[in-house]
Amino acid sequence: MTVPSEFLKDLKRSCYCGDLASDLVGQKVVIMGWVDSRRDHGGLIFVDVRDRSGLIQVVLNPTSAGMHLAKELRTEFVIAVEGVLKLRPAGMINDKIKTGAVELEAMRCEVLSEAQTPPFQISDDKVSETLRLKYRYLELRSQKLQTHLITRHQVAQLVRNELSAQNFIEVETPILYKSTPEGARDYLVPSRVHSGQFYALPQSPQTLKQLLMIGGMDRYFQIARCFRDEDLRADRQPEFSQIDIEMSFVDQEDLLEINEKLAVKIWQEILGYSVGVIPRMTFQEVMDRYGSDKPDLRNPLELKDVTSLGKNCGFKVLEDTEGRGASIKGLCLPKCGKMTRSQLDRLTLVAKQMGAKGLIWIKLEGQEFQSPMSKFVTTETMQEFFVQCGGKSGDCVVMVADDFAVTCAALAAIREQMGEELGLIDHKQFKFLWVVDFPLLEFDTNTKRWVARHHPFTMCKDSQLNILKERKEVEYPNLMAKAYDLVCNGYEIAGGSIRIHRHEVQKAMFDTLGLSEEETKQKFGFFIEALSFGTPPHGGIAWGMDRLLMLLCGTNAIRDVIAFPKTAKAACLMSEAPSSVAREQLLELGIRLI
Ligand code: AMO
Ligand code: AMP
Repeated sequence: MTVPSEFLKDLKRSCYCGDLASDLVGQKVVIMGWVDSRRDHGGLIFVDVRDRSGLIQVVLNPTSAGMHLAKELRTEFVIAVEGVLKLRPAGMINDKIKTGAVELEAMRCEVLSEAQTPPFQISDDKVSETLRLKYRYLELRSQKLQTHLITRHQVAQLVRNELSAQNFIEVETPILYKSTPEGARDYLVPSRVHSGQFYALPQSPQTLKQLLMIGGMDRYFQIARCFRDEDLRADRQPEFSQIDIEMSFVDQEDLLEINEKLAVKIWQEILGYSVGVIPRMTFQEVMDRYGSDKPDLRNPLELKDVTSLGKNCGFKVLEDTEGRGASIKGLCLPKCGKMTRSQLDRLTLVAKQMGAKGLIWIKLEGQEFQSPMSKFVTTETMQEFFVQCGGKSGDCVVMVADDFAVTCAALAAIREQMGEELGLIDHKQFKFLWVVDFPLLEFDTNTKRWVARHHPFTMCKDSQLNILKERKEVEYPNLMAKAYDLVCNGYEIAGGSIRIHRHEVQKAMFDTLGLSEEETKQKFGFFIEALSFGTPPHGGIAWGMDRLLMLLCGTNAIRDVIAFPKTAKAACLMSEAPSSVAREQLLELGIRLI
């Protein structure tokens, strides 16, 4: 038997607070935890004691022997209580907490650690985020974050078990590595030994997991940390975790199947939710119907293409759209026929923020159309636009005319906003979707170069290989990738592809992306060489572990599911990282600041 230590006042915890229930009534127990709140009722003092499992109400009688301490207890003191579990008197039962039917009558109470007055009350979620992040360890005591981190652990555990059962092995890959192209900026680490040279933290283990396939590992997974220096959003962190997967001797169908099973398993085990068969749509279809490659399918609103109606319609904003190769799309907002001017101005602003030049609206109340178009077009024309966009009496149709991408982005933003505002979204549902058949390449108008839409290791459709090999640039827009994204409720939660496994194709790909032979050799020489030593056909996927948890925990802030997250400016408010370093340290690294 271990000897209880002095710091524990010779007590040994026998139970977690949250586990105290009616079946233990009459028993003597020892609990240890934090004072969540203290209520002095004259004769008796009630203290809620908290640990990871929950809260228990402790009743202390300060006049009993050894109980004088009870009056000195303050919130966040760490205490040990020995007592007998009792049923609460009738009328005092609290249905809101798990242990609400019982209370612990204290026989002994010891302070294990005092606490200064905390800067905020642990359960108060209205405290500014800055303060909560500065004292993150205090916020971690909240039930919300404890539950989230426990769920995170359960998901990690489940993924490990599930993938291990399917013959995957977990392999760790280095953090000090070389740049891996995932489209973001690298975090660099200067080398002391090789002055003037840098490691890059991996944006993902992409090349490493492919090298593991070349190394004969056959099926790999890792809960991998990734680092990307990019503009942060509510669902992005500069370092985040992926459930990273790679498999040999498989094609797209095998990957979709295995990952669909994983999704079903996770939702079943964690939430008891049945995912069912996950539908699939091509990239073209989701863009046409929702204007986004990660549509929230809980939202029933859909875009309609009305480009062909623009020609000779009489309204100059729409007339030349088709001729320019641009698109006119509309979105019907049901029962919005009474929208006010200021509401419509607000929607116009949303469209403009996404790059659109404006927003045309048509409202129909009874028989009467209202629209900025009405001065320029006949009622018949207006009606045609309205009806083709799905409008009925009492609705409002909004339309954008612009390049396909801008039109889509503007209407997708309005679709998202109005779906919420009109209460069209059932927040209890999870709507999954596989998006497939992505374009392989995109033309970057800034750099005037073709860039890989997923990443440069992604394979095109087999029948199109000659386009890549023979650099048929006119055909580049038609190149389709063997790439797939898993989308849920408007979040891209996983993405992957079948890889290029032949070195000459990989070389052709880098050439297509405008990398000189020299650059390719310097950045990826080792990788291309590896491909030439017998590479199995392979493919993989990576799940955004944090996004997955956001969905499972029902939060829309990625910081809520990470123990020690960073702010939107990539700073840790608690430790004040990043911070400056001593001059000597820089000297040692051969670095001078400018
Ligand atoms: P990709 O870049 O699509 O693919 O990333 C995979 C998944 O990771 C999540 N994710 C992020 N989560 C939080 N913060 C971020 N900054 C962030 N960036 C991405 C997303 C995304 O779906 N190597 C490839 C995968 C592969 O091809 O196998 C890759 O990293 O949920
Ligand atoms: P204008 O002719 O620029 O005054 O625009 C007339 C109306 O058309 C306004 O309501 C604008 O918001 C809208 N509008 C202008 N350009 C576009 C466009 N490209 N797509 C959709 N609406 C537009």
